[in-house]
Amino acid sequence: MTIAASYARFGAREAHGVSPAYERLALAVSRDDELLALLETLPPAKRQPNLLFAVVRLLGGPVEDPAAFRAYTLANWPAIEAEIRARTTQTNEAGRCAVLLPVLAALPQPLALLEVGASAGLCLYPDRYAYRYGEHVLGAGEPVLDCVATGMAPPTRRPDVVWRAGLDLNPLDVTDPADAAWLDALIWPEQEHRRARLRAAAAVAAADPPLLIRGDLVDDLPALAARAPAGATLVVFHTSVLYQVPAPRRDAFAEVVRGLPGHWIANEAPDVLRHDALPEPPSGAHLNVLALDGKPLAWTRGHGQAINWFA
Ligand SMILES: C[S@@+](CC[C@H](N)C(=O)[O-])C[C@H]1O[C@@H](n2cnc3c(N)ncnc32)[C@H](O)[C@@H]1O
Repeated sequence: MTIAASYARFGAREAHGVSPAYERLALAVSRDDELLALLETLPPAKRQPNLLFAVVRLLGGPVEDPAAFRAYTLANWPAIEAEIRARTTQTNEAGRCAVLLPVLAALPQPLALLEVGASAGLCLYPDRYAYRYGEHVLGAGEPVLDCVATGMAPPTRRPDVVWRAGLDLNPLDVTDPADAAWLDALIWPEQEHRRARLRAAAAVAAADPPLLIRGDLVDDLPALAARAPAGATLVVFHTSVLYQVPAPRRDAFAEVVRGLPGHWIANEAPDVLRHDALPEPPSGAHLNVLALDGKPLAWTRGHGQAINWFA
């Protein structure tokens, strides 16, 4: 796919109905030869709309008006390019805990959580957040994670977590202002509710920081898993990570994780982690598949807004 086509597609499929600002920018970039020529100078993995728009936001550039965005980007390209080359999209969405919770709560307790592709580790606190599944509320305090659950009874307890650790190629630290600014910039402009959720989840993590290890989810997983305490159920999990991992490495990861004791929870798009048989998805929206030990259980919305149980 050309860069122009990928921006047009992003605008029409991903940003449409979610972020009018990013929809406008993506469509404008898709028709702008000068901006497309600059993007062409970047490695393919660095040309994504999400990365460009987040870097411009991080630097304080305008993202509401395509003409102002264009002028800013052309005038500041060296700084933008440096940030793009240095950074990756590492959105950390605590809301995803709402779709992990039904599985986590049903496993033998207590749990030792090991998240691969943890970013800043905000999904390592499913026991500390509050949840609202329709009328059903679980826990108290902030953030409250809202989730529409269908085909299942909402969970009635939060897990008992005795150990939490994350593995990431580039772990982020919510107490570092630069990392916090990048996590904020990754949230799309209109999504104030997600920004508030990020701040609340970051406060939870900052009060009791997780063990975050810099490493690869294939090469460094066994050593970190070996540090989990005896007497707890080891749960290796990941959400929205494998699309960033080349296909042969995804297979290598699945082989490593299957060889570990405990359980494996995956929440990934069906085209990056394949399952033999899946029912029709509930809508045309971008959905992940929640799976336990390789068995698919539910469709889930990208930020944990909904879970549709089918197992
Ligand atoms: C889109 S973020 C998702 C973060 C978190 N799982 C969540 O759902 O909020 C994907 C994360 O995976 C990490 N990642 C990508 N490839 C990886 C690899 N081979 N090993 C470890 N982490 C990786 C990235 O650095 C990034 O922080």
